[in-house]
Amino acid sequence: MEIIRYQIGRSFGSDLAIIQEIRRSVGPTFPVTLRFSTWKQQDYTAKLAETPDEWAAIVVPLSEAGVDAFHISQRRYWEGEFGSELNLAGWTKKFTGKPTVTVGSVALNNSMVEMMQGFGGSAVDNLDRLLSGFERGEYDMVAIGRAMIANPDWVKRVQNGEPLKPYAVDMLKTLD
Ligand SMILES: Cc1cc2nc3c(=O)[nH]c(=O)nc-3n(C[C@H](O)[C@H](O)[C@H](O)COP(=O)(O)O)c2cc1C
Repeated sequence: MEIIRYQIGRSFGSDLAIIQEIRRSVGPTFPVTLRFSTWKQQDYTAKLAETPDEWAAIVVPLSEAGVDAFHISQRRYWEGEFGSELNLAGWTKKFTGKPTVTVGSVALNNSMVEMMQGFGGSAVDNLDRLLSGFERGEYDMVAIGRAMIANPDWVKRVQNGEPLKPYAVDMLKTLD
């Protein structure tokens, strides 16, 4: 945890300068989005911030420097942050007022370890939480990775209430 904080503190000023330069280069109307990797495959407990104030201290300056929308990576989009129901995309939107993208195990229920071992699993029921988050304005967009690799017609299947194929890591070997 301390190492992560040190890295942020050390580079944060230059991160802001990079965003400011991107904004200057692309002009005021070109949308700038920033994807945040907030967890590590090697350490699921690693966090960039432990309190809402610490998170605000990261995202508000980035927003003011020119980020228009934030894409917040979580292992599981339905997990609330800082002991609340709000996920990290929600906290980011609350502090910055900017649109956010949520992501993380949408329509999946297998853990990362199970997935790497080849076990699949689809949990369409976790879409209820996705929809209620949209309705509450917690986030504005959603990114879907593995479930869409398994189901390139994901949108049609969900719209029609058709079953989703489970994701399995072997599917990566069949991509054209
Ligand atoms: C094997 C694997 C390792 C990942 N490692 C990380 C990571 O270390 N940090 C992170 O922020 N996201 C990580 N991700 C998340 C992806 O960057 C991406 O957000 C995600 O796969 C897309 O959503 P999905 O959960 O629908 O697949 C990982 C994903 C997979 C499948």
